[in-house]
Amino acid sequence: MENEKLDVIAREAEEEISKAENSEQLNEIRNKYLSKKSFLMSLMSTLGSMVADQRKEFGAKINAVKQRITERLDEKMKEFQKKELELKLKKESIDISLPAREFNVGAKNPFHVVKDEIVDIFLGMGYEVADGPEVELDHYNFELLNLPKDHPARDMQDTFYITENLLLRTHTSPVQARTMEKKAGKPVKIICPGKTYRRDDDDATHSHQFAQIEGLLIDKDINIGHLKATLELFAKKMFGEKREIRLRPSYFPFTEPSVEVDITCASCGGKGCPVCKGTGYIEILGGGMVHPNVLKMNGYDPEVYSGFAFGIGIERVAMLRYGIDDIRKFYTDDIRFLHQFIKKA
Ligand code: DAH
Repeated sequence: MENEKLDVIAREAEEEISKAENSEQLNEIRNKYLSKKSFLMSLMSTLGSMVADQRKEFGAKINAVKQRITERLDEKMKEFQKKELELKLKKESIDISLPAREFNVGAKNPFHVVKDEIVDIFLGMGYEVADGPEVELDHYNFELLNLPKDHPARDMQDTFYITENLLLRTHTSPVQARTMEKKAGKPVKIICPGKTYRRDDDDATHSHQFAQIEGLLIDKDINIGHLKATLELFAKKMFGEKREIRLRPSYFPFTEPSVEVDITCASCGGKGCPVCKGTGYIEILGGGMVHPNVLKMNGYDPEVYSGFAFGIGIERVAMLRYGIDDIRKFYTDDIRFLHQFIKKA
């Protein structure tokens, strides 16, 4: 009688286990059949009233049923856990068939490549690097460079004014005056790379913002031969040993005499071609001997000291060096443009 009950319980439990759909339901079944208050466990208490042999046999049977149910529950639980894990892994899986996001690495802008090279060339000649503000006083940008108010040469350097006497510097030349002020009558040998501004039309060779490298050397007994030798060395280091330079008379209010410096054209070697407009030469910078007025205004005795100065357009040199036809390409940081200047090791 009791034995039959046990068989029924075992069957019912197995059936419920096989129908269970998830681990929660299994836990409920475990509770129902194996908890202390379950019918199966309550049968244990009947053992006391049985005779020894019967007790032994029935006890063993209860244990066997309990073990069987436990095993089935454990088996089924493992199945569910495996399925649940698979489901979780599937949800969290990464679709490696998706193409990776494109990762574009830039390159050093040829403007900076050339600027650094020019600075290195002059550092090698013993120049120091000086600095000055881009928002400059009229006083330094014009007055101390022999360009008083209403001087007609100011017209060539119209710029962005902040107030009547404060403007975005039109050239790096104000650093000449600032350095002379600082050196207070002592020799000077500096270059100054930096941004400059003009109210120019933006086209392939002009931009409202561009950059120059100013050079200034002041000492005793400096003559135009020193200027020529310095610029010749610069041109050969920058453009190659075969390049020649020529000095053409020019005019700047802050130098006397003033020169425009040309290098022989790389395309034709000086014979004349469309690149150099048939002249055989290409202009690269302006310079000259520091005007006695500039020396005087900035605290140097022109009877004792003399000097030379020059201003190099960085973009212009970079354009010539690399054959770049549009100045605006330096400023747009187009990666396709920049990649052409990655140095192959
Ligand atoms: N500041 C001049 C310009 O922007 C360039 C220049 C010419 C600089 C002669 C100089 C110089 O120092 O001596 O056009």
